[in-house]
Amino acid sequence: MDIVDPQIENYAIAHTTAPRDEVAALRAEAATLPVPEMAGGLVEVKLLEALVVATRASRVLEIGTFAGVTALSLAALLPEDGELVTLEIDPENAAIARRHFATSPHGARIRLIEGDARESLATIDGPFELVWIDAWKPDYGFYYDAVLPKLAEHGVIVADNVLRSGDVIDPRVNDASTVSLRRFADDVEADPRVDNALLTVADGLLVIWKRPS
Ligand SMILES: C[S@@+](CC[C@H](N)C(=O)[O-])C[C@H]1O[C@@H](n2cnc3c(N)ncnc32)[C@H](O)[C@@H]1O
Repeated sequence: MDIVDPQIENYAIAHTTAPRDEVAALRAEAATLPVPEMAGGLVEVKLLEALVVATRASRVLEIGTFAGVTALSLAALLPEDGELVTLEIDPENAAIARRHFATSPHGARIRLIEGDARESLATIDGPFELVWIDAWKPDYGFYYDAVLPKLAEHGVIVADNVLRSGDVIDPRVNDASTVSLRRFADDVEADPRVDNALLTVADGLLVIWKRPS
């Protein structure tokens, strides 16, 4: 199921600022990889850019780097001494991302930690103004529990793929990722520590922030 009608999606893309040249070059390379749709889409990445600007983020955490499209896009918006920490388990994906980060004028702000995010997260200190959850779907609940204590007071967590092409509302679909994403959305909705909004952007974005007291 398309979450957004393809014609509407094309209209949205046509009215969204195009990526900078270095991001466009990385997107072109990511498009040749075996699962190119893993790269963050233009509209969702631009929304994340808006959140970096709006939260005046100096530190961003990304769980799941893939080729580095989102990391490279967001790093450009951080202050000189800002930091984007990105976690990736696949050495081939990490190698592509590192190659592009190395030639970017903003690459020095990116720290790529290779390995299983479930272990890396325990070694990283907050606070982060933006956390982008975009790795192994069955672990979303684990990632959320690990990052909420690292979220800055006015920070935002965004989790990708929470609609899973509509599978979350199809009772016939019960694979591990879909079941986990349903539980994750239910648990966040019931969590009194946060407010949240599930956006029907891309494959579904769950935006989460600390509930004002
Ligand atoms: C959807 S892609 C990430 C896309 C990227 N965030 C972007 O916006 O362009 C998911 C990535 O998470 C990585 N991944 C999956 N499980 C992981 C884990 N346990 N630890 C770290 N990375 C993981 C995959 O190898 C893959 O590269």
